[in-house]
Amino acid sequence: MSLARCVEPEWLDVLDQDDPRASRSRRDLQRVNRVMGNAAILARALRNARPPRLIVELGAGDGTLLLRVVQRPALRWQGGTIMFVDRQSLVSKGTRAAFNALGWTVDSAEADALTWLQQAAPGSVDLMLANLFLHHFHAPQLTALLASAAARADLFVACEPRRSYGAVAGSLLLGAIGCNDVSRHDAVVSVRAGFADRELSALWPASSGHRLEEYAAGLFSHCFVAQRA
Ligand SMILES: C[S@@+](CC[C@H](N)C(=O)[O-])C[C@H]1O[C@@H](n2cnc3c(N)ncnc32)[C@H](O)[C@@H]1O
Repeated sequence: MSLARCVEPEWLDVLDQDDPRASRSRRDLQRVNRVMGNAAILARALRNARPPRLIVELGAGDGTLLLRVVQRPALRWQGGTIMFVDRQSLVSKGTRAAFNALGWTVDSAEADALTWLQQAAPGSVDLMLANLFLHHFHAPQLTALLASAAARADLFVACEPRRSYGAVAGSLLLGAIGCNDVSRHDAVVSVRAGFADRELSALWPASSGHRLEEYAAGLFSHCFVAQRA
């Protein structure tokens, strides 16, 4: 029996940016990404990609997940430009400096991702990424977002919560690694809004000319790759 997809508000999206519970939950998110193995999953999905000169990350949060991806020696990327898009400005000076040290120039837009995408020039992005972000959207918004991404990105890779009973069980255990009430609530909501099977492929525009892959990754994640043929 499969879980029906259900999108509900996450507390982190409504708490004030400076609320201590939100700050703590953002730090928890780094741990959650580690437990899920998301940097490794993204790096594996990107291992055969041409080194990108321009990366856009949608719903990037504090940027530390992408930092852990570009630090992977196996990718052998030389640097370039990174554009972080998020409704909140969360990338610290230290994180920016760590990117700069690896040859990346960091830019950021405090914007709604869909609005930002619709204003970006078509065909302009080597690599577009989303980590724990697409699940925020109901299908109609997600269809619009993926259509805009398809028109702009040569390669689009997303790593999202897997909607499965195992992932629900995992999210119920986050208290055991010290995650706060916001993180514990949002983890369960995120899994229920997550993806399974080929649900993202079904929403990607069929005429885009991208080759699609979609698969369960690690214990709790769901990976989607669209590569322009
Ligand atoms: C669960 S967090 C993931 C952050 C980051 N990708 C990570 O893995 O650490 C989701 C992020 O999406 C951002 N977000 C939610 N809705 C958004 C929207 N419509 N446009 C831009 N950013 C949004 C939130 O501010 C938050 O930083």
